[in-house]
Amino acid sequence: MNLHGSAAAKAAARSVSDRLGVKAPVAAIILGSGLGELADRIEQPTRANYSEIPGFFSTHVEGHKGELIRGFLGGKEILALAGRFHMYEGHEARVSAFPVRVASALGAKVLFVSNAAGGVRRTFKPGDLMLIEDHINLMFRNPLIGPVEAGDTRFPDMSASYSPRLIALLQASAKETGVPLAAGVYAGLLGPTYETPAEVRMLEKLGADATGMSTVPEVIVAAALGMEVAGVSLITNLASGITSDAISHADVVEVGKQAAGRFANLVTAFIAKL
Ligand code: HPA
Repeated sequence: MNLHGSAAAKAAARSVSDRLGVKAPVAAIILGSGLGELADRIEQPTRANYSEIPGFFSTHVEGHKGELIRGFLGGKEILALAGRFHMYEGHEARVSAFPVRVASALGAKVLFVSNAAGGVRRTFKPGDLMLIEDHINLMFRNPLIGPVEAGDTRFPDMSASYSPRLIALLQASAKETGVPLAAGVYAGLLGPTYETPAEVRMLEKLGADATGMSTVPEVIVAAALGMEVAGVSLITNLASGITSDAISHADVVEVGKQAAGRFANLVTAFIAKL
């Protein structure tokens, strides 16, 4: 049996559903590096530590332990996933995406993904927010490899994997909250190394605007499950070689903290519209 397939996700969902009081969440929100602060805005939160959820792994995000939080944002019931299982930690793609299966089993029809990313587009500045219009899977892994899981589409259409309807809602939310929001293509690489300058020049030629080490497996599973997806990258640094600065994880986290308020305002306004 696939230990991170749909049956396992149903079991995990059962184990948290009653305990957290999950009723009808409008969305699941995956919080990227440094963006965990949004979790503090969630009203009436109930929490499950990742170590208590079958099929999950313990993880630590800055300032937060890995946890699934159920509560309200913008007046709507949501599930927040603070902490990821990155492939660079040695997790398989299906494990990276397992929280999405659990969120779907808990009733979430919308997936909102967020991440920290390096800016490939030369005009980006650290702290910019980029709506993800599309992605390029350069991880060369796919979470759907193997027998088809119950509820999955075998060959998911990826032509509008970031929902045009949700993109319009995000843009409206950005206007409403006065949060500047760019739009572009996210390239997902395995990591854990940051890119070389030559790789960043390649990414630029391929049509990427930002690059990071997450998100792609989650969005693929969401597509297979028929969830509607929206996402935002926080540009924490310019990608390798665009400036002479070295890239450090500490800087990535610091920029995340500075942008946390704007990010939270944007996401809250977006959720309110669902
Ligand atoms: N590259 C890949 N992942 C990242 C970066 C980067 O420059 N910054 C934050 N996450």
